[in-house]
Amino acid sequence: MTEQIKLEMIQEETFLTEEFFNQQWQIYQKVLKNNYMGHQEIYNVLHELLVKHWQKPFTMLDLGCGDGSFTTQALLNTQIAEYTGIDVSVPAIEDAKKNIAVTGCQGNFIIGDCWELTNELAQNEQQKFDVVFTSFALHHLQLEEKEDVIKNIKNLLKPGGIFILIDVVRQENEDRDTYVQRYLGNVKKDWTLITPQEYKMVDSHISSRDFPETQSNLKSISEKVGFSDFECVYRDELDTTQLLCFYL
Ligand SMILES: C[S@@+](CC[C@H](N)C(=O)[O-])C[C@H]1O[C@@H](n2cnc3c(N)ncnc32)[C@H](O)[C@@H]1O
Repeated sequence: MTEQIKLEMIQEETFLTEEFFNQQWQIYQKVLKNNYMGHQEIYNVLHELLVKHWQKPFTMLDLGCGDGSFTTQALLNTQIAEYTGIDVSVPAIEDAKKNIAVTGCQGNFIIGDCWELTNELAQNEQQKFDVVFTSFALHHLQLEEKEDVIKNIKNLLKPGGIFILIDVVRQENEDRDTYVQRYLGNVKKDWTLITPQEYKMVDSHISSRDFPETQSNLKSISEKVGFSDFECVYRDELDTTQLLCFYL
């Protein structure tokens, strides 16, 4: 199968049709604008972390970068020298280019399957990064796929590098169905500007595509693939989202 066909398949799997994509994208913009997923707080923590850790210029790879709007806020007034964003969505990458430009760092943008590209980059060992970052994307993968991706990410880090993961995380002993019901309960209660039709799309997306791990599962993967340390830097009030650091 050619790379182009594979890319079209993942784009189709991710968003089904252009119209469906546009609707999903509009809902996600509404979510960001109203801070329904807590981006404001968590990206403030990301900013503090980057300032504390990198007093010299650093490079960052962002997997599933979306429009890069919150990442741009986190990167402003840091020592970011070069940013590489990968996303399967063409409009997201177009917006990310404009947003990241505000930081003044060198920006590289790739349209493609970020998990596949992570594998390729790790194999050819030509490019390494100080920070590999992914936010609200890894939970779509199954447990074994997450392990493979995190192993590749480890091989993409420069000495002293950090893998920073922002994602939804299940509570310990919470099964997936209970998590989905808990998350959707919060959406119903707190996402007050979402229309009934938009709620249906959110419900269908989360019910069919979200496979969050527990923190201890992620810690086990970190140990298994050889990270030396693992830290939960932030957990939100609803106990659905965490910022986790994997240290080389
Ligand atoms: C929920 S959004 C998160 C965007 C951004 N990281 C944020 O935190 O706001 C998930 C993003 O991951 C992208 N994505 C999902 N699966 C992908 C894949 N296999 N390869 C590249 N991008 C992917 C989607 O296009 C979307 O932009």
